[in-house]
Amino acid sequence: MENFKTELDADGILLCTFDVPGKTMNTFTKAALGDLETIANRAKTEAEIKGVVLTSGKTTGFCAGADLEEMLGGAWEVGGDLQGEAKLKANFDAAFEMNRVYRLLETCGKPVAVAINGVALGGGLEVSLACHYRVMGNGPKTQVGLPEIKIGLFPGGGGSQRLPRLIGVQNALLAMSEGKSFKPKEALSQGIVHEVVDEGKEVEAAKTWIKTKGDPVAPWDKKDFKIPGGGPYHPAGAQIFIMGNAMLRKQSYGNYPAVLNLMHSVYEGLQVPFDTAIKIESRFFCNTLATPQAKAMIRTFFFSMQALGKGSGRPAGVAKTEFAQVAVLGAGMMGAGIAYVTAMAGIKVVLVDRDQASADKGKAHCEDLLKKAVSRGKMTQDKAQGVLDLITATPDYAAIEGSDLVVEAVFENTELKDQVTRQAEAPLYKGAKAGSAIFGTNTSTIPISLLAKASSKPENYIGIHFFSPVDKMLLVEIILGEKTSDETLAKAIDYVLKIKKTPIVVNDSRFFFANRCFIPFTAEGMIMWSEGVAPALIDNAGRMTGMPRGPLEMMDDVALDLLTKITSETAKAMGDAYQPIPGEKEVAQMVADGRLGRKNGKGFYDYPADRNTPKTLWQGTKDMFPVTQAEANPAEVEELKKRLLYVQAVTAARCFEEGVITDPREADVGSILGWGFAPWSGGIVSLIDAIGIPKFVEELDRMEKAYGERFKAPQLLREMAAKGETFYSRFGKADKAKAA
Ligand code: NAI
Repeated sequence: MENFKTELDADGILLCTFDVPGKTMNTFTKAALGDLETIANRAKTEAEIKGVVLTSGKTTGFCAGADLEEMLGGAWEVGGDLQGEAKLKANFDAAFEMNRVYRLLETCGKPVAVAINGVALGGGLEVSLACHYRVMGNGPKTQVGLPEIKIGLFPGGGGSQRLPRLIGVQNALLAMSEGKSFKPKEALSQGIVHEVVDEGKEVEAAKTWIKTKGDPVAPWDKKDFKIPGGGPYHPAGAQIFIMGNAMLRKQSYGNYPAVLNLMHSVYEGLQVPFDTAIKIESRFFCNTLATPQAKAMIRTFFFSMQALGKGSGRPAGVAKTEFAQVAVLGAGMMGAGIAYVTAMAGIKVVLVDRDQASADKGKAHCEDLLKKAVSRGKMTQDKAQGVLDLITATPDYAAIEGSDLVVEAVFENTELKDQVTRQAEAPLYKGAKAGSAIFGTNTSTIPISLLAKASSKPENYIGIHFFSPVDKMLLVEIILGEKTSDETLAKAIDYVLKIKKTPIVVNDSRFFFANRCFIPFTAEGMIMWSEGVAPALIDNAGRMTGMPRGPLEMMDDVALDLLTKITSETAKAMGDAYQPIPGEKEVAQMVADGRLGRKNGKGFYDYPADRNTPKTLWQGTKDMFPVTQAEANPAEVEELKKRLLYVQAVTAARCFEEGVITDPREADVGSILGWGFAPWSGGIVSLIDAIGIPKFVEELDRMEKAYGERFKAPQLLREMAAKGETFYSRFGKADKAKAA
């Protein structure tokens, strides 16, 4: 066997150590499953084997589940050219393989215990659930969980059947629908594992159980078995399904096939004997895996995030930069956040503002964030003090000397930015770091090449665009100016990775990538409002698309005064080319009347002082645009949803056409991390690929006629449609790299 090492001890216990060669973490490939089948058969047939213990030979953990690379590569969908039932049968058999093998182990007739000596997620926990006894090491990083839902799947290796039979329907559904992980003590109190022992003692404890108690029959294979808390036919159990269904619908709006299939699998599977139950699970799993949503989510949430997290856009051949000191210019909302995340990464920060009081205010914001972390038990007081001590707040630009990087976050004003750039570059490009330091601006709208004109070293000048609130938002857009060098780009990426954010690299353009695609979503909401669509309907349709909030409530969150300012600045900068958005005057009026959005409790909604009381729609919107459409039938709702999603997607396509963004992985990950674009789709270009370019173009043509130029299909899409391309086939860098 390649993937397991076996060792039979004097007591007849077969220790099977999972250790996939050449991989840092164990996953279940089809080959590894084959080895597990060999183990199950040996246990069944060899009399000298009295029991089996599974454990891992990796220091990184026990097992991360099914091998996603193999899964996405098609090993789980083998139907290929087959048609109809034959295809379904082939795919079912492929998906059932995990269940079949785990069940063989469970019913081998010998007691099987697992020594969980590190993380056991997905299929890693599922194989453990198929063992008769589970011992978990009390390691700081050890955890168990079924996170499949986060990548558009649900547990398909018996997890959706064994977990509810073990810990009850309610707890199991919560754990699986949120993809929650459990640390050793939680796992024990939930009843997911039987015993928690000190790290390194797992195998010993598992063997002791086999020698002393070793029961080879799973609870659900015993005659008197009852589902804890009741199954679907039990009055209490039935209640859970009624409530659970409603809750999951409310959270997911039916956008996630995996969530619906999880409910189906649990509800139907719990009504039948176990061997039939796992077949039901595999049927729903197979169906889920075949959806474009699952494929796109696996690609984006697993592979692309991993690639970007390793700096896939980083130019090769530039040595990695270590950051000893970073200067942040402007200690306002963004600057203070940037100082915080930088110090959290262990880097010294010089936080500069125009006077001491303003600089101190920024540092005080960092202190507040640290206090919160301590009060929530996420950090010790000592660590918090250590982070705070790394930040020096000062109005003295001379303190910038010796920094590896300056991040500029002063007011959004070109003249001011020019002035502070010159003022900061003098000490930056002096002394020991003169040859290697770089300068990043956090501007959200001003072209980088324009700002770079004020720089004495435009090749060292780059956009490093954070999102608000900086401590929470994971995306950073890196924007190249005309003269930005590869070396500067590599350094900017090194910095972003060091502060544990995900970088995407984009070319200079108004609003760059994220805001350029997001703004049309809110603009479309305003246009609908001006057309007489009821605000409640607009925001409901927005949420139903899978966006975190509707367009009007999103505007309240961003702040109406900020949006009005951006609109007027854009109009000024674009001159005659600017096309006003219907409703922008009305929003400006709301701002003039003191309705600034959530921040002052008044915007499109009224926000009660008590945060637990829900917000209500402000009735004044109806005086500005009388409601002509208060209700919508399902087809009309679909049309509203389509407008809100497609207007963003067509903008992303234009960004590809103009070369603003070049990697579909960056567009997808950027859209989800940057502005919460419908995660079920796998991201903004995965959405277009799943619709199919010809169909998308056809819809855009119809929508352009119905609603206007903003839906006009770019030439690029027509060309791609004619050639039968997708974004991933035409622009996909990962696949090309592999092919090469
Ligand atoms: P802010 O108004 O909260 O902070 C700006 C800070 O710059 C103030 O503390 C001000 O005292 C300081 N400042 C002004 N003149 C200065 C000088 N000569 N030297 C040093 N400091 C000076 O603004 P905010 O929201 O933090 O924005 C800063 C930058 O970040 C802008 O370029 C903005 O476009 C950009 N940005 C803002 C986002 C947001 O959501 N607010 C998101 C992404 C980027």
